[in-house]
Amino acid sequence: MERQTVFSGLQPTGNVHLGNYLGALRNWVKLQDSYDSVYCVVDLHAITVDYDPQQFEQDRIEAAKVLLAVGIDPDKSLFYFQSQVPQHSELAWILGTMTPTGVLNRMTQYKDKVARGIPANLGLYSYPVLMAADILLYHANLVPIGDDQRQHLEMTRDLAERFNNRFGEVFPIPDALIPETTARVMSFADPTSKMSKSDPNEKSRVLILDSPDVVRKKIKSAMTDSDPEVRFDRDEKPGISNLLEIMSTCTGESIDNLVAEYGGSGYGVFKEAVADAVIAELAPIRSAYTQLDDEEIARIMRRGALDARTRAEGFQQTVRQVTGLAPV
Ligand code: TYM
Repeated sequence: MERQTVFSGLQPTGNVHLGNYLGALRNWVKLQDSYDSVYCVVDLHAITVDYDPQQFEQDRIEAAKVLLAVGIDPDKSLFYFQSQVPQHSELAWILGTMTPTGVLNRMTQYKDKVARGIPANLGLYSYPVLMAADILLYHANLVPIGDDQRQHLEMTRDLAERFNNRFGEVFPIPDALIPETTARVMSFADPTSKMSKSDPNEKSRVLILDSPDVVRKKIKSAMTDSDPEVRFDRDEKPGISNLLEIMSTCTGESIDNLVAEYGGSGYGVFKEAVADAVIAELAPIRSAYTQLDDEEIARIMRRGALDARTRAEGFQQTVRQVTGLAPV
């Protein structure tokens, strides 16, 4: 059987955090060995909200650097910047012609962003169509993401089906790979909302490059309830449940075992143990990060873009052909 393809993307908006890592990036790294893997720094998605063009190049390189430090291996994975592969935007346009606006109106991420005061523009509105194009462009079968991208993936599957029904079987229908625990890492400042890059409160998230001291401080100050029992209950004890999930993913111990071990030890002891587990998990990433230099990253990304364009163009010719567009 042909090797299956995995695709995923990360926005270069800085502040890569524990949620990104435990929800998605850890799986990206794991899948490299058994899949044909394609990973992308999605800079076209990042410009759908206000940004500083001067700072943007730096942010893009920084995102690439973090992903390389996490363990993306350019010898195993196709790894590049989205804006250097114009076929993404071309396919997004084509898929856009098949996307009912009623479907886009239901996208919760779009509605949340607009509700938070982010100016509604066409790019922000059609963001999920570009995401579908990213995935379908390479005929991806599997998409490792956190829970917040579930709805976008559903829409991608729907678009792939619409396209195939109209023009013939071109795209596989991709599956989401969403982890069982830590699919939705919650904010340390408010465990009822998700940990996010854009929260103005820095204590709400652990960054994957935070020093051990900072990690420990943030975890110790994570919001919890006043009943000192450590047990898993997302509704009654969202803060402790969040920490249990994080610790379980970092250590490989089941939540039941962790509850058995820390159930009666009090929050102080438990939080120290969570901090130890997170610090140990992030240590190799911090150390790999310091070894990387910008020249090397630029070289890797140039090569990635070249390979990605070649591959994307091969697929995109088929799309032009079946849709009746002029070949390039
Ligand atoms: P982005 O850059 O916001 O986030 C990158 C990945 O991190 C996951 N994630 C989380 N997982 C668990 N808990 C959290 N608190 C948390 N916050 C974020 C996200 O689910 C994501 O997997 N739209 C995407 C980027 C994208 C993409 C794609 C992804 C563009 N094209 C094609 C997959 C396939 C996004 O905004 O990711």
